[in-house]
Amino acid sequence: MKTDPRWLARIAALYDSKRRDFNWRLAADGVIHHHNGLAYGKAAFLRRLRRASPEGADRIIHDSETALSRLGFRYLGRPAPGAVLLDAGCGRGGSSLLLAAKYPRLAIRGVTLSAYQAAAARAAAKARGLGARVRFSRASMLDLPFKKGSFDLVWACESTEHVPDLRDFFREAARAARPGARLVVIAWVLNPAHPRAAGFAALTDRAYVTRVHPEEEYLRAASAEGWRLRLKKDLTGPTAAYWAGRAALKSGSGTEAFMAPAFASRALLYRLYSYDLVE
Ligand SMILES: C[S@@+](CC[C@H](N)C(=O)[O-])C[C@H]1O[C@@H](n2cnc3c(N)ncnc32)[C@H](O)[C@@H]1O
Repeated sequence: MKTDPRWLARIAALYDSKRRDFNWRLAADGVIHHHNGLAYGKAAFLRRLRRASPEGADRIIHDSETALSRLGFRYLGRPAPGAVLLDAGCGRGGSSLLLAAKYPRLAIRGVTLSAYQAAAARAAAKARGLGARVRFSRASMLDLPFKKGSFDLVWACESTEHVPDLRDFFREAARAARPGARLVVIAWVLNPAHPRAAGFAALTDRAYVTRVHPEEEYLRAASAEGWRLRLKKDLTGPTAAYWAGRAALKSGSGTEAFMAPAFASRALLYRLYSYDLVE
């Protein structure tokens, strides 16, 4: 189904507007994340944050976000020589920059709906001398400007929340990937059995232009489009601790007031899914 262009335009406008924002403030290393973090040992994490300077606290939060990226990369597996990865919904390129440093021969193509983000990611890649190996463009991951079978790996970190019908994402990813390709999705997932799920979903949808989906859809839509689930991992506990840490900062993004209780109550779940494209 073709996604309503007005919906895509709203997402682009949201990310075009986030420039000197909270995520940028955290990224003293130039690797800007737009995703949750992971904190293990909540009490000690909160103690560290309370004792830190404002800059130190930002660094702790940022490091916990980098920890999420690094954990997710493990589920991509080691790329074969000559492998090409699609960063589907790449933000300002944070994950791609880390992956490019980890795997010096991996080619990466990132897409985002935001022209500003694509330009910022390109500038960051250029500053790191990554040249043609890592490229970013403004494009929709639901209608990719790449030929069939272009990718060995697909990474979608907190981008599928923006997709109204997940089948559209899994279908286009399956077209752009080669048979046997590996896909890792990290996502906020609705827990429909929770009495406050609908309320929190409405808040996130309004603040972030999302459509948060229940887990069933990550299983059903993926399978219908040829993706075989290898494993799923629940990261709700460590991300709830991360949001508790954000709520304790002197200044945050403003969304902590509902994101922290949404994950703490498990009305929202934080999940990693790893799939292989059926050969
Ligand atoms: C929450 S940010 C995550 C960015 C990045 N993956 C990260 O982890 O830092 C969501 C990203 O998904 C992108 N996005 C959402 N829908 C998209 C679509 N249909 N096509 C391409 N990018 C999309 C947005 O433009 C934005 O860059």
